[in-house]
Amino acid sequence: MSKVVIFNGSPRKNGYTSKLLAQVANGAKSKGAEVIEFNLNDPGIRGCQGCLYCRLHDGCAVNDYLQPMYEAIEDADAIVFGSPIYGYQISGQAKIWLDRTFPMVGDGFAARHPGKKAITIFAQGSPNPEIAAEGIKTVSNIFARYGWKVEDSILCCGTTNFHSEKFEMYNSGLQKFEELSVRAFKDGISLVK
Ligand SMILES: Cc1cc2nc3c(=O)[nH]c(=O)nc-3n(C[C@H](O)[C@H](O)[C@H](O)COP(=O)(O)O)c2cc1C
Repeated sequence: MSKVVIFNGSPRKNGYTSKLLAQVANGAKSKGAEVIEFNLNDPGIRGCQGCLYCRLHDGCAVNDYLQPMYEAIEDADAIVFGSPIYGYQISGQAKIWLDRTFPMVGDGFAARHPGKKAITIFAQGSPNPEIAAEGIKTVSNIFARYGWKVEDSILCCGTTNFHSEKFEMYNSGLQKFEELSVRAFKDGISLVK
């Protein structure tokens, strides 16, 4: 059975990142995959302590909510990561997770768990896709180091109007969201061998 591990860097359970991640999960489950999800907004998560335990061991010395993810990643065929764009970057929650994935490389930055498929999902308020470019590049560069192949990267733009006279989350009117949802579902299917 294929195993898919999802990492959700959005604090909003019904936000765009969460909805698109759920679609990937649904697609993978529809093909019989086992799906495990980690909520990166969990208060039981600690940031990397810089102890460098992971330079000598394939694992992390921080014993917290994320500790089971190392075994889950090792067993997984595919990794799915999602984050909102906050201040031109991935969310702080997502960055903390990214730091904690340092054990994915060992001596001389050799990938310890390569060969996994990956899907990445991003959501941003602005309609301009350039805003997310640096954040997406950061994640892609790091996943490439880990030997994880990003099969698709979805960016959902134009989710939010921050002008005070007309503040709203575009929960129903977002153009293309349906299209992206279908794409995310298909991405989930494609992760299953
Ligand atoms: C702290 C914060 C910073 C944000 N910074 C940006 C930004 O730099 N560019 C942008 O387009 N949207 C920005 N947004 C809007 C979010 O990206 C947008 O609301 C997105 O839909 C959130 O993802 P979610 O729906 O998955 O929660 C920001 C939102 C917050 C709360």
